[in-house]
Amino acid sequence: MSNQQQKIALVTGGNGGIGSAICEELTNNGMQVVAGYFAPEEKTAKAWQIEMNQKGFNIHLVGGDVTSYESAGEMVAQTEREIGTIDVLVNCAGITQDMMLKQMTEVQWNAVISTNLDSIFNMTQQVINGMLDRGYGRIINISSVNGQKGQFGQANYSAAKAGLHGFTMSLAQETALKGITVNTVSPGYIATEMTMAIAPEILESITQAIPMQRMGEPFDIAQTVSWLADPKSSYITGANIPVNGGLFMSA
Ligand code: CAA
Repeated sequence: MSNQQQKIALVTGGNGGIGSAICEELTNNGMQVVAGYFAPEEKTAKAWQIEMNQKGFNIHLVGGDVTSYESAGEMVAQTEREIGTIDVLVNCAGITQDMMLKQMTEVQWNAVISTNLDSIFNMTQQVINGMLDRGYGRIINISSVNGQKGQFGQANYSAAKAGLHGFTMSLAQETALKGITVNTVSPGYIATEMTMAIAPEILESITQAIPMQRMGEPFDIAQTVSWLADPKSSYITGANIPVNGGLFMSA
C-alpha cells in the first residue's frame, strides 16, 4: 500500500472541459491534484489555475506534450519532485480532427492517434513501475462512446478510443495482483468546447438519438472518475464504464 497520507492524482488535459471537472471532484475527494496541460498553452493554463483557486481548488500545474515519451516522462518527474509520487493517473488529454476517411489526411490521422492513444502509453509507462513498487495505483483512461460504436467522420478518433480500452484490459491483467486497478470511462456527448465545435444541425440530430435527449455535463464524468479513483474501489478493474445517457448500450 502507498504510505502517502494524501493521495496524489495527475490528470492529463486537466484544464480541459471534462478535465477541469475531474480535477474538482478529485480535490473534493481529498486528493492533491496535479493538472497536466499542453505546454504551448501555458498562459491559458495559468489563468485557469487562478480561476480554480478562486473557486477554492488548489491545483498544481505541469506543462508538457503527451505525444512525446520524453516530455511525458518529464511531466511525471516534475510532479514527483514538486508534489510526490503519483497514486492516481487520469489520462484525459484528447483531441478531435473530424473528417470523412475519403478526405482524411495523414496529418489528421497521426495527430489524433498520437494525442489520444500514444499518449496513454507515454504517460502510463512512466508511472507504472512506481505503482508496482508501492503496491498501489489507480489508472483511469478517458475514452468515448464513439470508441464503442464508431461515428461518421471519426475513423481516427474512434480507432484511438477503441484502442485505449484494449490497453486498459491488458494492463488490468498485468497489475491485478499488485493493488492497481485500470479502468476506462467512456463519455457520451458532453457539453464542452469539443462538442460545441460540431455544426448545430449535426449536434441536434445526435442529441435526438440519445435516449435521454440531452447532452451530459462534465460533472457526470468527473464523479465516475472520482469513484474509480477512490481507494475503496478496489475490486473493479479492466472495466469500461459508459456515461452516455443511453446512447450506446451493450450486454
Ligand atoms: N450518417 C450517415 N450519413 C451522414 C451522417 C451520418 N451520421 N452525417 C452526415 N451524413 C451525410 C450527410 O447527410 C451528407 O450527405 P449528402 O452529401 O448526401 O448531403 C454527407 O454525409 C456529408 O456530410 P456533411 O455535410 O456533414 O460532410 P462534411 O464534410 O461537411 O462534414 C463531418 C463531415 C466533419 C464529419 C461532419 O459530418 C461532422 O462534424 N460530424 C459529426 C462528427 C462527430 O460526431 N464528432 C464528435 C465530436 S465530439 C467528440 O468526439 C466527443 C466524444 O467523445 C463524443
